Amino acid sequence: MSTPVAGEPGYNSGLVVDGLVKEYAGDGYVVRVLDELSFHAAPGELVVLLGPSGSGKSTLLSCLGGMLSPTAGAIHLNDVNVTAASGKALDDYRKHHVGFVFQGFNLIPSLSARENVAVPLIVSKTVSRSRALAQADEILDRVGLGDRTRHKPSQLSGGQQQRVAVARGLVTDPDLLIADEPTANLDHIQAEAVIGLFRELRSQGRVIVVSTHDARLIPVADRVVRMTPDGIEPDRGSHDVRFRAGATIFRQEDPADYVYVIESGEVEIVRELVDGTEHLATLGAGQYFGELGAMLGFPRSATARAQVDVVATAMPPHEFRQKVERA
Ligand SMILES: Nc1ncnc2c1ncn2[C@@H]1O[C@H](COP(=O)(O)OP(=O)(O)O)[C@@H](O)[C@H]1O
Ligand SMILES: [Mg+2]
Repeated sequence: MSTPVAGEPGYNSGLVVDGLVKEYAGDGYVVRVLDELSFHAAPGELVVLLGPSGSGKSTLLSCLGGMLSPTAGAIHLNDVNVTAASGKALDDYRKHHVGFVFQGFNLIPSLSARENVAVPLIVSKTVSRSRALAQADEILDRVGLGDRTRHKPSQLSGGQQQRVAVARGLVTDPDLLIADEPTANLDHIQAEAVIGLFRELRSQGRVIVVSTHDARLIPVADRVVRMTPDGIEPDRGSHDVRFRAGATIFRQEDPADYVYVIESGEVEIVRELVDGTEHLATLGAGQYFGELGAMLGFPRSATARAQVDVVATAMPPHEFRQKVERA
């Protein structure tokens, strides 16, 4: 038996983006917004698309959702060749395989939460209206709004409206859920709750792609795709680093990136106070440090220094989290 190839029936390995290019033609100029972007996400993975405004996040999501044709390259979702689809196949893909959570919640003000959530089902005409509303109630319950199903959007907080929008994206049980900057309009507490919700919704055989300019979402991701105005830098995975005795590994207040696992040597962790330094810990082989800032997106809360020559593994927070969850 041959191995199924992306785009062939039976191929079920999630989302494959291959050499995607999108150019917008202006008045006598061409802007290349996506420049040969490639990544892969297995079913169950949560992908965070990280980049500043203008880096092409919405453009990529529109291509993934089958709403925009790329200039070149291919997108496959399981056995669907999205970029080659047209007509009824494309319509079917949009209605049954993809769920959207739009930037700004885009809820219909005159409809209740359950009616808003039921809209994609009613539009796709796959079930009766009463069945659609019953499914909407179920999914609202799953996102923690079981007691708000009859409320109108204006009677809900921003965070609750975002949950309704997430429920609406999920109601058709899509293989791909796309969310465009879902935390942009929320305060810190509400944003945390929505981030937590995306993590809960993971691990159900579906790919979730969330765009953001907010590095706080990095720790929840299984995979980070970095978008920059100049192109896309791949996320650097785990790698070994060496520090000489006395070297500073990171300084308190530095932006936090990696979590470090010590392979050999000793590391001293100190907090720098106004009136001197406070020794917090000396760590050795097998121990890790730097996880707090890296996982939560805060600056380093202490300084780490190699006391002797040190070899450590620098891990992106999402890889560290997977390691801890497996342990
Ligand atoms: N329809 C369009 N026509 C021309 N340029 C566009 C169009 N849509 C987006 N762009 C440009 O493409 C770039 C990326 O936009 P966008 O995908 O919205 O980025 P992001 O969502 O990361 O802010 C921007 O410079 C934007 O001005
Ligand atoms: Mg955008």
